[in-house]
Amino acid sequence: MFEAGKLVRDLQIMRDEGYLSDALLRYAVRTIGSSDKRFSWTGVYLLNAEANELWLHNYVGSPTEHAKIPVGSGVCGRAVAEKANLNIPDVSKESDYLACAPDVQSEMVVLIRAGEDIFGQIDIDSEDPKAFTEDDELLVQSVADKLAEQLMAERR
Ligand code: SME
Repeated sequence: MFEAGKLVRDLQIMRDEGYLSDALLRYAVRTIGSSDKRFSWTGVYLLNAEANELWLHNYVGSPTEHAKIPVGSGVCGRAVAEKANLNIPDVSKESDYLACAPDVQSEMVVLIRAGEDIFGQIDIDSEDPKAFTEDDELLVQSVADKLAEQLMAERR
C-alpha cells in the first residue's frame, strides 16, 4: 500500500509551491496506482455538474471505454448519486457494472468531496476478489480530501 501520510504531505508541498489541481490529480493517481500489486487500474473522474456526468481526468492502467459516466450509472455514477464511497468485493454481482477490463474482480470508489459538495472520485480496480479493506478506504480518503482542498481553492 502507498504511504498515504507522505503522499498527503507531498500534495500539500505541491500546493504551497503553486501547483494546480491538474498536477496534484496526476501525481496522486501515479503514486497510488504504482504502489500496490492489487491495483490493476487507478484513475480520477471529475464531476461535470452541467452535464451531470463524471469525466475521466487521468489514469494508470489500460484505456477504458468509460471516459464519461452519467451520474447514477455504474459503480462510479452510483457513488456520486448516493454521495457515498463504494467498496465492491465482487463486481460480477453488481447489476449495473461498467466493465473497464475483463479481469477486474473488485473495485473501490472514494469520493473527492467537501461535505455535500462532490468534485469527483478516485476509482481503483483490482483483479483480486475482495481486494479492498476499510483501511484502504481511509488512506485513499485522506488523499481525496487533500485533492478536494485544492479543487475548492480553484473554484473560488
Ligand atoms: N467500473 C466502473 C467504470 C469505470 S472503469 O472501471 C475504469 C463502473 O462500474 O462505474
